[in-house]
Amino acid sequence: MHILFAASECLPFIKTGGLADVIGSLPREIARHGHQVTVYVPFYRQVQSHFPEKKIVIPSITIPFEYYNRFAAVIDGGKRDGVQFYFIDCPELFDREGVYGTPSGEYPDNWERFGLFCRAVIEASKLLGVPDIFHVHDWQTSVLSVYLRTVYYFDPVLRKTGTVLTIHNAGYQGWFPPATTARLLFPWDIFTMDRVEQYDTFNFLKGGIVYSDALTTVSHKYAEEIQTPEFGGGLEGTLRKRAADLHGILNGVDYAKWNPETDGRIAAHYSIKDLSGKAECKRDLLHAFGASHVKEDTAVLGIVSRLATQKGFDLTAQIIERLAFENIFLIVLGTGEPYYENLFRSLHERFPEKISVRITYDETLAHKVEAGSDIYLMPSRYEPCGLNQIYSLKYGAVPVVRATGGLDDTIEEWDPETRTGTGFKFQGYYADDYLKAVQRALSVFHDKDAWQTLMRNGMARDYSWTKPGEAYLKLYEEVAQRRN
Ligand code: ADP
Ligand code: GLC
Repeated sequence: MHILFAASECLPFIKTGGLADVIGSLPREIARHGHQVTVYVPFYRQVQSHFPEKKIVIPSITIPFEYYNRFAAVIDGGKRDGVQFYFIDCPELFDREGVYGTPSGEYPDNWERFGLFCRAVIEASKLLGVPDIFHVHDWQTSVLSVYLRTVYYFDPVLRKTGTVLTIHNAGYQGWFPPATTARLLFPWDIFTMDRVEQYDTFNFLKGGIVYSDALTTVSHKYAEEIQTPEFGGGLEGTLRKRAADLHGILNGVDYAKWNPETDGRIAAHYSIKDLSGKAECKRDLLHAFGASHVKEDTAVLGIVSRLATQKGFDLTAQIIERLAFENIFLIVLGTGEPYYENLFRSLHERFPEKISVRITYDETLAHKVEAGSDIYLMPSRYEPCGLNQIYSLKYGAVPVVRATGGLDDTIEEWDPETRTGTGFKFQGYYADDYLKAVQRALSVFHDKDAWQTLMRNGMARDYSWTKPGEAYLKLYEEVAQRRN
């Protein structure tokens, strides 16, 4: 089979969140099974430095809009680990400071940027290789499925190509004005509530849900949750209609990058057999966060995150005053919404002896936080999968999580009787329940023997891509067969 991934982020080229980790690793796993795999990503400004030579394979594809044409080139990114990379170049749309926007807001022409990207990918594939499956991700590439089944309906070379949409986050849907329909040259008859319309907006994600052959999301629990009003963001009805084609496939992680036995970014290596290096990682982390005064027996709590409402920081802010009485030190690495950046800055000012904050995006620091923390906090409002709690397991940073989405699927509550489990969970979105979960963690932390068992339980878990890779392959095959 030939699987073509179209996505708005991909490591090592461009990343704002976990989507980049997934697109940087799942295609490789599919290729490992002997399939042909191609990945298309926009040629953002941030990607340019990876390709100073800019090897152009298609100089100009015409992408028509309502009153004008735009022109996209295709850049050959070469083959890595069996995966072929192509980039869609359209400087007026992608050579910009931000990926989706700037601190002052989203780019208002994102409909055009990602509409062009999707159409350019379809056109490029006709010259460079039509796949058996287009695997699209989140709202940004959802309209590829819409194009394929409307504007490209009569194209004989695309007839047998199937589409799989993975929803990494139903909270971001790509809402645009109704006129987007005409601007992207879609027929007006798709602008109805059972197709792409959602309360008088053109909803990219909804289009993908309606028009893709199969749908996946990134954990079993989230697949159930998004069919309810609390998590579906208004698309729960549309998702329920497609329940038979909606599959929860938990993300894997890349243990070649995230493994304390081999990680080149941390101060010392350690393993399930020999945990001793972790103490040095803790000292190194505290030093990097200007907190060398923190004592060895203090529990270091870590956070690495996009600073967004989704991640539950208001709960952390609510418990911090009471947590400050405990023997803890909180380390926060993140960037995002100015409201939360300021919240953490002010918490640091109020509790300088208890919190250190770095408002920046820094991959090396992210690895140091995993390796140096004793406890990892992830009290998300919702979490489709979540990768950091999975990395934390591997690094023996015991997760305290809210039991939602992938957090619930990946973390098992510690049972002091049987000494099984990998972390601590709470159910409702309540500060008191969160605080109790952290306190449960702290009480075990002071029992060194139990704590090491708990760490080792987590470190022994395997969330590699092997199983999810097989699940995707099975789905690709089913979809390809249906199309034939
Ligand atoms: P989401 O995709 O919702 O942001 P995930 O847990 O799936 O959440 O993935 C987040 C990814 O982004 C992880 O790889 C995490 O290490 C990384 N990350 C988030 N914030 C930062 C930061 N400030 N510096 C470095 N890496 C970060
Ligand atoms: C999204 C989700 C996150 C998930 C990631 C990768 O950004 O918020 O939970 O892990 O996508 O699928």
